[in-house]
Amino acid sequence: MALKCPKVQFTVVDIDSKRIAAWNSDHLPVYEAGLDDIVRARRGINLIFSTEIDNAIYDADIILIAINTPSMEKDNRLGAAADLRGIEQCMRRIAKVARHYKIIVEKSTVPCRTGDLISNILRQNSNPGVNFDVLSNPEFLSEGSAIRDLLYPDRVIIGGLDGTEGAQDVLKSIYSRWVPDDRIITMGLWSSELAKLASNALLAQRVSSINSISAVCEAVGADINEVSRGCGLDARIGSQFLQASVGFGGACFHKDIQSLIWLSESLGLHDVAEYWDQVLKMNESQMSRFVQRVINEVEGGLKDIRIAVLGFAFKSGTGDARNTPASHICNQLLRQGASLFIYDPKVPDEQIRNNLTVELDNRKPQFHICHDAYNAIAGSQVIVILTAWDEFQAVDWSEAHSQMIQPAYIFDGHRLLDASYLKQLGFHYASVGTHSKGRI
Ligand code: UDX
Repeated sequence: MALKCPKVQFTVVDIDSKRIAAWNSDHLPVYEAGLDDIVRARRGINLIFSTEIDNAIYDADIILIAINTPSMEKDNRLGAAADLRGIEQCMRRIAKVARHYKIIVEKSTVPCRTGDLISNILRQNSNPGVNFDVLSNPEFLSEGSAIRDLLYPDRVIIGGLDGTEGAQDVLKSIYSRWVPDDRIITMGLWSSELAKLASNALLAQRVSSINSISAVCEAVGADINEVSRGCGLDARIGSQFLQASVGFGGACFHKDIQSLIWLSESLGLHDVAEYWDQVLKMNESQMSRFVQRVINEVEGGLKDIRIAVLGFAFKSGTGDARNTPASHICNQLLRQGASLFIYDPKVPDEQIRNNLTVELDNRKPQFHICHDAYNAIAGSQVIVILTAWDEFQAVDWSEAHSQMIQPAYIFDGHRLLDASYLKQLGFHYASVGTHSKGRI
């Protein structure tokens, strides 16, 4: 926004001073291609990172709320409510500090009707004569392609209650500077809130759907890539998000489906809740099935077997390991007694360590974090590919094979590598969505 609206002043504030310091340093707190250049171009000009929260609230005409809303409970089959305490506190602070009209924009993904909660807190706590309009403007960017998604969004949704049309126009005028008008759509506040939850649920459902078909492919000897192509060329289905994998991860899909399940349950819509719960169950089953396949196909089991884990991020292009399938899979492999040599080009070591929490009787889980793929591979017998990083395609697989304990195995969780080449080299190669012996 700061890049595209040079005449608008943007102040980013946070209660976490370390994070703000990082945003003001040469090492930004998140890795995202293209972000460094943009921050460098606008920082100190019309993009300020600060901890002076009250000053920023006082001065602002528009406040975008981008506070995290984690799930309150884990593994609850009735879903999980989003924790809105951060948002509530923030609203009280805005109400206390504000002395003139402001537009409050929900950017955080929130349960349907959070706008009500926000409006009530603001109304009940505001200074005399100060009014607010509350809008919903959900963010649809994906990690790894965030800058492209922001510059060329499929759509921008601006939701508001009746009577907020003026505020919607103001926000629209910001986006209009780089987004074509027909891609900026306005709608009711609650539709907008629900559109965000529903978009993530539908995307996750597509991944679970194709992963469920991948299980059938592995059993009957069909090829999931061929099936995906055969389905995706139907314009009504479309080809995106039909890539079979070890399962979906990330900060959004699981949390938002949990939130949708909770919302449905609280509305008495049990069948709806159960339907979306199945998408999560399918995802768990895909991860467990992958581990089971490694157990079944490595002769003699996994006890004391050295496994190279290539990729830990929940997807390529990001250093984010929140809710990554790699965490679930690695913990299950450790439980089998395997020792893991893990390499990811972007995930910080500490994040990998924090994810490997499995408790084993009388022994410590055996894992090592490596800083290049060859270090992880040399001396291992098994390779599992858990994130589709391009650099794994560039590995010299002939050299890798010669440095491994034989017979050498590759389990490819993303259909990243060339199956026939690897089999020629002598690898036992198995990938998600294909039978180990090839087409039947
Ligand atoms: C998602 C939504 O795409 C985005 O619109 C929303 O704003 C935030 O949540 P993100 O979580 O960054 O974005 O990544 P996404 O590209 O959607 O991938 C999510 C997970 O699904 C990843 O683990 C990815 O590997 C997996 N996936 C995706 C598949 O397994 N197969 C696919 O075909 C696509």
